Amino acid sequence: TKLDMELAAIEKDGYDHFMLKEIFEQPHTIFDCLRGRLDVNAGTITMAGVQNHIDQIKNANRILIIACGTSWHAGLVAEYVFEELCRIPVEVEYASEFRYRNPIVNKGDVIIAISQSGETADTLVALESAKEKGATIFGVVNVVGSSIARISHAGAYTHAGPEIGVASTKAFTAQLAVLTMIALKVGHEKGTIDETRYRKLLKELEEVPEKVSAALKLNDHIKALAEKYKDARDFLFLGRGYNFPIALEGALKLKEISYIHAEGYPAAEMKHGPIALVDETLPVVFVATKDSYHEKIVSNIQEIKARKGKVLAVISENDEIIEKMADDVMIVPFADELVAPLISVIPLQLLAYYIGIAKGCDVDKPRNLAKSVTVE
Ligand code: G6P
Repeated sequence: TKLDMELAAIEKDGYDHFMLKEIFEQPHTIFDCLRGRLDVNAGTITMAGVQNHIDQIKNANRILIIACGTSWHAGLVAEYVFEELCRIPVEVEYASEFRYRNPIVNKGDVIIAISQSGETADTLVALESAKEKGATIFGVVNVVGSSIARISHAGAYTHAGPEIGVASTKAFTAQLAVLTMIALKVGHEKGTIDETRYRKLLKELEEVPEKVSAALKLNDHIKALAEKYKDARDFLFLGRGYNFPIALEGALKLKEISYIHAEGYPAAEMKHGPIALVDETLPVVFVATKDSYHEKIVSNIQEIKARKGKVLAVISENDEIIEKMADDVMIVPFADELVAPLISVIPLQLLAYYIGIAKGCDVDKPRNLAKSVTVE
């Protein structure tokens, strides 16, 4: 009815779609997620759920991360962050695999469950069986009071607010913010992170909302890029280190929203397969912000250019090297590599959205997908 349409328009806050609204909400949702937790001056992170279980987490023999979809990608970033800052071995599992394969779960294991909805059936059942085996379940969940939140022993909410678009955007960056704070807190308590780096990273986290705002200024530029590349049949997304999961996420977003076939890969691993696909028709998106892998990814870009692939690159400011090599660039503010994924994912969300729009897709409700998958 007309009333329904008017109500929907009000909820979208002037944006054409929930997805775009939610992409643009991220400076606020990340801020809300950090607020009341992160205190840069005091040098503290206040998270009751972590504090109450600090001994278990910091003495964990290993951390198992269980999730599906975009939440699983947040888990992959968290794996690198936890291993770096806490020196605890981490494994990241698809919930659907974990629940059926008789996995090894020991008493000292900590399981981190990541879920926007808190209702994903595979994740829920995987946690139930791990709980029976004596693991401590820590939930990183968006929906307050959801099933996963309730079965967890402890947790930290992501506070991203309701996410309506089927493709997860603001819930993802909030997951990254929460997971990074947990790792910083645990690493600091455990003494596996030195004070200077700890303080530096607190500051870096605090600056994320502002840098996400700056990245969102790419909106019109990315809209134009979408027009240029919308007819490609396939896309390849490549990244290394902390940006490797962002390459996977960029590919997932594009598939979900525009129905273009896309694959995400670790940039160096592309030599073992995807490079066979490269020709002048293949757009290759590099997530290549300035970090300790920069030199390596530059040579991966050369490998693609030598085969006439079209290179689109997400880069940091003042990166003349990649700017010269790439066909198109999306420039974002520089950030420490540990928090860079929170910023480098923004242009990829916009790219998926605008290519979807250019192809006339229903971006808020892509075909065959559900916001939360409550059946297996
Ligand atoms: C579905 C949604 C995805 C989401 C995944 C996991 O596939 O379409 O956006 O990432 O489920 O959902 P969860 O609520 O557990 O994060």
